[in-house]
Amino acid sequence: MTDAELVALALAARNHSYSPYSHFPVGAALECADGTVYTGCNVENAAYGSSICAERTALVKAVSEGKRTFTRLAVAGSSDDYCWPCGACRQMLLEFAPHLTVLCTRQNGDFVSLSLDGDLLPHGFGPHSLE
Ligand code: THU
Repeated sequence: MTDAELVALALAARNHSYSPYSHFPVGAALECADGTVYTGCNVENAAYGSSICAERTALVKAVSEGKRTFTRLAVAGSSDDYCWPCGACRQMLLEFAPHLTVLCTRQNGDFVSLSLDGDLLPHGFGPHSLE
């Protein structure tokens, strides 16, 4: 699958977003090492802190079905800026895929390709930190 195809899946995943409070739909598409892709969207809650981001939705879907190794993630928001993963999502992703490639996408489909541990969360606290 090309980067552009993974980005298209993230953009489409926004259609399932439940975001009545922020009115900011986000979609994500997470590629596993075996080539399968799990999508996710943000799911908000009246108790705002109970909401979950698109990236973590995709990640927990994948892990709960037995996937543990990931290669790329595309995340698409609903603005003209690139959608940058929040800190909580970066931390959750670091646990399983420190070298993950993250495609941060504008709503028009433009994207930039970044490394999780190199660009988005350098010097992060991960499983190795507890050894
Ligand atoms: N959001 C995500 O789903 N992923 C991000 O990387 C940034 C923020 C969601 C959370 C909330 O539902 C909405 O976007 C506005 O913050």
